[in-house]
Amino acid sequence: MKYTFCGNSGLQLPRISLGLWHNFGFVDDFDTSREMIKYAFSEGVTHFDLANNYGPPPGSAEINFGKILKEDLSSHRDEMIISSKAGHLMWDGPYGDGSSRKSIIASINQSLRRTGLEYFDIFYTHRYDSDTPVEETMQALADVVRQGKALYIGISKYPPKEALIAMKYLKERDVPCLIFQDKYSMFNRKPEEKILKITQENGSGFIAFSPLAQGVLTNKYLNGIPKESRAANPNGFLRKQQVTPELVEIVKALNVIAMERGQTMAEMALAWALRETAVTSLIVGARNVSQLQDSLKALNNLSFTEEELTLIDSILDGSKL
Ligand SMILES: NC(=O)c1ccc[n+]([C@@H]2O[C@H](COP(=O)([O-])OP(=O)(O)OC[C@H]3O[C@@H](n4cnc5c(N)ncnc54)[C@H](OP(=O)(O)O)[C@@H]3O)[C@@H](O)[C@H]2O)c1
Repeated sequence: MKYTFCGNSGLQLPRISLGLWHNFGFVDDFDTSREMIKYAFSEGVTHFDLANNYGPPPGSAEINFGKILKEDLSSHRDEMIISSKAGHLMWDGPYGDGSSRKSIIASINQSLRRTGLEYFDIFYTHRYDSDTPVEETMQALADVVRQGKALYIGISKYPPKEALIAMKYLKERDVPCLIFQDKYSMFNRKPEEKILKITQENGSGFIAFSPLAQGVLTNKYLNGIPKESRAANPNGFLRKQQVTPELVEIVKALNVIAMERGQTMAEMALAWALRETAVTSLIVGARNVSQLQDSLKALNNLSFTEEELTLIDSILDGSKL
C-alpha cells in the first residue's frame, strides 16, 4: 500500500480505502463482508468508510463492522482510520435527517453505540442541508471533536460556496476540515471545476467516492448486465437504464488503453483518478475479495503518458454518470 498525507494534516491515508455503502448490511453474506475487511486490512488498507445509513437496513453496516472489528481486529484499532457520517435520512421524525445540531449529536452517539467504538477518526457531515445554517452544523462538528467523539472532521458533497463557509468556520475554531469527500471518476469530473482547488487552498485532503462509477468503469458491463451486479439490483443506486449503450462503447474504448497498459479497466480507472495531485485517496466498493484484489493492483502502475491522457480525454469528451 502507498500512503499520503491528508492535506496539510499529519494524518496519512492509504491511496485506496474501502467503503461499506453496499455489501456490508444484514442483507449481505456476513462471511464475505468479513473476508473483505480482513483482506483489505492485511493489504494495508487502513481506512474504512461508513455512514449511519449504510446497510440495508440502515445502521447494519456499522453493526457488522463493529462485530468484525471486535472479533477479528480488536488489537489493531490504533492502526485504523474509521469514518462515519450523518446527514441523510436515518430515523423517523424531524431529527432523523439533515444537519441540525440535534441530528448530528444524536447520530454520532448512535453510530458509536452500533460500532462499539469509543471515537471515530473522521466524522462527516454527509451532505449540505439548506434548511440548517452551515455554522450550526460546523459548531456541532467542532463540539464533537472537543468531546472526544471524533478526531477529525470531514465534509461531503457541499457546494463550493458553502464548503468555503464551512472550512473558514472550522478553521477559526481550531478544528480544521481534514478532508472533503465527493464523487469523482472518469465519468464525473465536476470536482475539477472548483472543489479540488478549494480543498488544496484550504489545506484539506480530498477523498473520491464511486471512483469506478459504481462498477461501470470496470469490465463488468461490456457484454450486458450480469445478474450479480449493482445495476441488476432493483433496489440499488445504479439503475439499469443508466448503463447506456453509449457508455458501454466508451468503456470498451477505454478498455483498449487499459489492456495496452497491462491493466484491467478497473485498475486504469483508479490509477487515472489518482493522477490528480489534489486527490488523497479513493474509496472503492467491492462485492468480494477478488474485486478488491483487482482494484488494489491499480497501485502497481500510476503513471500515464501525455498521449494516454489526451486519448482518454478525447474518449470521455464530457460523458457523465
Ligand atoms: N459521501 C457520499 O455521499 C457517498 C456516496 C456514495 C459512496 N460513498 C462512499 O464511497 C464508497 C464507494 O462507493 P461505490 O461502491 O459506489 O464505489 P465504486 O468503487 O465506484 O463501485 C463499487 C462497485 O463496483 C463493482 N466493482 C468493484 N470492483 C470491481 C472490479 N474489480 N471488477 C468489476 N466490478 C467491480 C462492484 O459492484 P457490483 O455489485 O456490480 O459487483 C462494487 O460494489 C462507498 O462504500 C461509501 O463509503 C460516499
